[in-house]
Amino acid sequence: MNIVLMGLPGAGKGTQAERIKAEFGIPHISTGDMFRAAVKQQTPLGQEAQKYLDRGDLVPDEVTNGIVRERLSQDDCAHGFMLDGFPRTVPQAESLDEMLSELSRELDKVIVIEVARERLIERLTGRRICKNCGATYHVTFNPPREAGVCDQCGGTLYQRSDDNEATVANRLDVNIKQSAPLLNYYKQRNKLVTIDGEQAIDKVFIDVKAALRGQSR
Ligand code: AP5
Ligand code: MG
Ligand code: ZN
Repeated sequence: MNIVLMGLPGAGKGTQAERIKAEFGIPHISTGDMFRAAVKQQTPLGQEAQKYLDRGDLVPDEVTNGIVRERLSQDDCAHGFMLDGFPRTVPQAESLDEMLSELSRELDKVIVIEVARERLIERLTGRRICKNCGATYHVTFNPPREAGVCDQCGGTLYQRSDDNEATVANRLDVNIKQSAPLLNYYKQRNKLVTIDGEQAIDKVFIDVKAALRGQSR
């Protein structure tokens, strides 16, 4: 199963990806997570990406396409993969098509999690993430049993540095600008499935599973 998860910042891509990974056992490839790991380690890629992440702008396509190309060639992607937050521009989508054709693979579905802009600010500013295992929480919508502590591993929860209101507003604007042509790209290719992301997390996952049912590649 080769899939793409799309949706504006805060739509629930990472939240659903955790569940899809547990259910279907395919690797979760988040370009945002890859950039944050590189920033943390201060690799050359991380030093280049940091300024874009801090502002909430998109990292240039050549850089992003390069890290995805390398990741998709790794062994664990041989039996399927789930891309989260890539592609985000039409040139990235074209580049992905090229990469997949080189690997003799094809995308099965592009799942779009739809949530109205006005709901996303609250989702992003209230998000908390486990330092240890990466599990995602929300102070109101998906709170841990004990504030600041991960249910799954007891790790400490933190807030992403780009989850402040100013950066969130720019991330939303930047991503909204790119989204219509990208949706159109996949609509024309009959890959698009739209899911109502304003339902509760478990309900969204039921719809995601229904959309993926019958995909076995
Ligand atoms: P990235 O890390 O991908 O950030 P993003 O797109 O802004 O998306 P988020 O991770 O913030 O949201 P999400 O949809 O995963 O939501 P989540 O499940 O956590 O990218 C970061 C940066 O990297 C970009 O700004 C850019 O600079 C760069 N970058 C990445 N990819 C790139 C690319 N392809 N090209 C160029 N640059 C790139 O949920 C959010 C919150 O809501 C959580 O608290 C969660 O608990 C809660 N929640 C989730 N679902 C629900 C629900 N159904 N109801 C209520 N609350 C919910
Ligand atoms: Mg995410
Ligand atoms: Zn944890």
